[in-house]
Amino acid sequence: MSNVKASYDFTNKVVLVTGAAKGIGKSIAEKFYGFGAKVAILDILREEGEAVIAALGDRAAYSQCDISDPAQVTSTIEQILATFGRIDIVINNAGVNATDKKDRVGIDMYPDETWDRMIEVDLNGTFYCCKAAAQVMKRQGFGSIVNIASVAGVIALRLQSGFVAAKAGIVKLTAAMACELAPLGIRVNAVSPGSILTDTTRSLFYGDNGSFSTFAEKLLSFIPQGRPGEAEEIADVVVFLSSESASYINGQNLVVDGGWTCGFNRDF
Ligand SMILES: NC(=O)c1ccc[n+]([C@@H]2O[C@H](COP(=O)([O-])OP(=O)(O)OC[C@H]3O[C@@H](n4cnc5c(N)ncnc54)[C@H](O)[C@@H]3O)[C@@H](O)[C@H]2O)c1
Repeated sequence: MSNVKASYDFTNKVVLVTGAAKGIGKSIAEKFYGFGAKVAILDILREEGEAVIAALGDRAAYSQCDISDPAQVTSTIEQILATFGRIDIVINNAGVNATDKKDRVGIDMYPDETWDRMIEVDLNGTFYCCKAAAQVMKRQGFGSIVNIASVAGVIALRLQSGFVAAKAGIVKLTAAMACELAPLGIRVNAVSPGSILTDTTRSLFYGDNGSFSTFAEKLLSFIPQGRPGEAEEIADVVVFLSSESASYINGQNLVVDGGWTCGFNRDF
C-alpha cells in the first residue's frame, strides 16, 4: 500500500457515516475527521460507536440507530441537524452479510429470513438513509452521497443470492438517484469493495504465523493483485468521491477490488 496519500480540506463540512462503529465505516469516519470534517456516525452498536467518537474528538457525535427502521432514521437525521445544523455528505456504509453455513445455500434452500434481513438492512436501510439525506440536501441545494455496495452487486456470487440482490439494488438505486438529484446540486455515487480486511475478517485471512489461511489463498487466487484490500483503501476512494476533486463524477459505481472483477484471473 502506498504511503503517498491525497489531502483534502473538509473544514466546516458535516459528514454522516452509517455503520461506523467498526470496520470500513470506522475507517471512513477517521479519514474524514482527519481532514477537518464534523463527523456524525450512526450504528446499532452503542459501546463501540461511543468508543469511536471518544477516540476521534469533539467534532464527532454518535447516534444509536437501526437503519432498517425508517422512524429511527428520521429521528437520527433530526438529531444530527440539531447538533451540527446541516449534513453535507452522507456515506451509506452500514450493512450485513450472511456468514453462517446454514445461510450460504442455493436458491432452492435459501432461508426466507436470511433473504429478508439482507433486503431490510442492506437495501431498504440504504434507501431510508438516502431518502432522508436527499430531503436535507435538497433544502441545502448541495450534497454528496456515497453508497457502499459490493463486487457481489456487480458479478454474482454463488450461495449468496440475498446479498447479491441487495447490493445490485444499491448500485441501481445510486444511478437512479444520481439522475434525479444532479439538477439540485447533489451527486450520488457508489463504491463496491472486493475482499477487504477488517478486524472481523483479518483472522479469517491470516493464520497464527501471519501467512494466508487456506480459505484466503483460494479466495485470493481470483485477485490479480494477490492480496485483500485494507479498509483505509476504501476510505481513500470514498473521501475522493465525496470531495470537490470528483465534482463531475456522478452516478458511478467505483469497484475497488484489486482487479478481481476486471477479467478472469487464469493463464489458459
Ligand atoms: N469487508 C469486506 O470485504 C466487504 C466487501 C464488500 C462490501 N462490503 C460492504 O462494506 C460495508 C462495511 O462492511 P464491513 O466489512 O466494515 O462490515 P462490519 O460488519 O465490520 O461493519 C458493519 C457495521 O454496520 C453496522 N450495522 C449493521 N447493521 C446495521 C443496522 N441495521 N443499522 C445500523 N448499523 C448497522 C454494524 O454494527 C457494524 O458496525 C458493508 O456494507 C459491506 O457489505 C464489505
